[in-house]
Amino acid sequence: MTKSDARSVRDWLRAIEVFARPLPEFAPDQAPSEPVPLFLAWLREAVEADVPDPHAMTLSTVDETGDPDARVLILKNVDASGFQFAMHAASPKGVQLAGTPRAALTFYWAEFGRQVRVRGEVRPEPADRSAADFLARSATARAEALIGRQSRYLTDPEERDRVLKESLARVEADPGLLDPAWTLCTVVPDVVEFWQAAATRVHVRLRYEREATGWQRRQLWS
Ligand SMILES: Cc1cc2nc3c(=O)[nH]c(=O)nc-3n(C[C@H](O)[C@H](O)[C@H](O)COP(=O)(O)O)c2cc1C
Repeated sequence: MTKSDARSVRDWLRAIEVFARPLPEFAPDQAPSEPVPLFLAWLREAVEADVPDPHAMTLSTVDETGDPDARVLILKNVDASGFQFAMHAASPKGVQLAGTPRAALTFYWAEFGRQVRVRGEVRPEPADRSAADFLARSATARAEALIGRQSRYLTDPEERDRVLKESLARVEADPGLLDPAWTLCTVVPDVVEFWQAAATRVHVRLRYEREATGWQRRQLWS
């Protein structure tokens, strides 16, 4: 890349407008005393506005050397105990979480200029709940999970097609077949931060922190 290409990419990026649309107001003093009701209100607004994949979130973890890693996953449930996702225990994220059972989740709903950040301990759910999540997946998704090679090098796409076909045949022959490595996990939040963009660039941030007496709410500098 030449110097002038680098400059043109920089100029091109700088010319892209951010938050150039009507954005909702956020009044932190009127926010609920706990974070989950506010999260569900923001998620519901994203769903009702047809935001694409409104329940997609970035799950950040660290590996055994302390190196960060992150990927997008689908949120499976939210309740008073926390935010749930499901994974294969042998995947890189599964191995990373077995070593360091803590994670961050990041949601971004661009249409509303809203970000939610969650941090906390990751707890595996009991086997029966993981099994129910597994059985609710499509036959192909179950067949892929049962192969158990997520994120390994794919050197032979023909082998992949053959192995997937065999795995799918097993699933179709036994619809109750389970994968004991399939794990439903809950991120039990210590911290949940709500960030609302404003066209004025005076963005509004509200952080909930779990303390011995319950959730504390504090605004943050933007
Ligand atoms: C919108 C979206 C949704 C995704 N949902 C899932 C999911 O629910 N489960 C999953 O294992 N991977 C999902 N992925 C793929 C992951 O981002 C990732 O590639 C995969 O889980 C392997 O991650 P790992 O190597 O860190 O274990 C999704 C990707 C995108 C872009």
